[in-house]
Amino acid sequence: MKKNNYKDYAAMSRAAADIVVATVKAKPNAVLGLPTGSTPIGMYAELVKDYKAGKVDFSEVTTFNLDEYIGLDTKHEQSYRRFMQEQLFDHINIKPSNTHIPSGTAKDLNKAAKEFEDLLKKSGGVDLFVLGIGTNGHIGFNEPAASMPAYTHVVGLAEETIKVNADKFFAGDMKAVPKTAVSMGLATIMKANKIILLSNGESKNDAIAKIDSQVLTLDCPATVLHMHRDVTLLIS
Ligand code: PGA
Repeated sequence: MKKNNYKDYAAMSRAAADIVVATVKAKPNAVLGLPTGSTPIGMYAELVKDYKAGKVDFSEVTTFNLDEYIGLDTKHEQSYRRFMQEQLFDHINIKPSNTHIPSGTAKDLNKAAKEFEDLLKKSGGVDLFVLGIGTNGHIGFNEPAASMPAYTHVVGLAEETIKVNADKFFAGDMKAVPKTAVSMGLATIMKANKIILLSNGESKNDAIAKIDSQVLTLDCPATVLHMHRDVTLLIS
């Protein structure tokens, strides 16, 4: 595992965008794994700038997002589909049909999760996965637990995650935050060829310290990344 420290959020966001652009240049039909949350917003803004400057072409790129809240319509202002449209997809030349986000509104959520996992497999797998990390060490919505499903699944959000997301995105209203989500599993994520994890700010220090300790524990799901051969942490 490699670790790169950046002087500030802008520098980390630029570095992350450079890695995405290099991946797409090397393989125009690359498959990208993508996160939502506050951390990747700067990277998405840089990618939009690069696209508008003619530095990158997303016309053959396919994307798979990590997760989605259950019960929020795709148009809801906090749905991860809407987030991705607003931060990235609406501003670049990616084909809408090539953008995949787990369904949080399907009648049969388990069936939809399985179909999502199958589609990802059929795509040939993720070339580059960009991850964020929760204050509790979650990646996607793989929350600390004794055990968890390996692949895309329905999951309950940890109390800490509900609180953090309420403060950041739901004006502090914990009741408004969905309590369940659909998330890729750790095994889904670990199948990617290459992984970068973005971490910004002191609130993530504990989780990063657990990764640094090189002890594998599902109490901090991100520690499993040590088992992958090409992971870089980008820290600001
Ligand atoms: P954040 O969320 O980017 O808003 O800090 C990351 C996460 O919870 O995975």
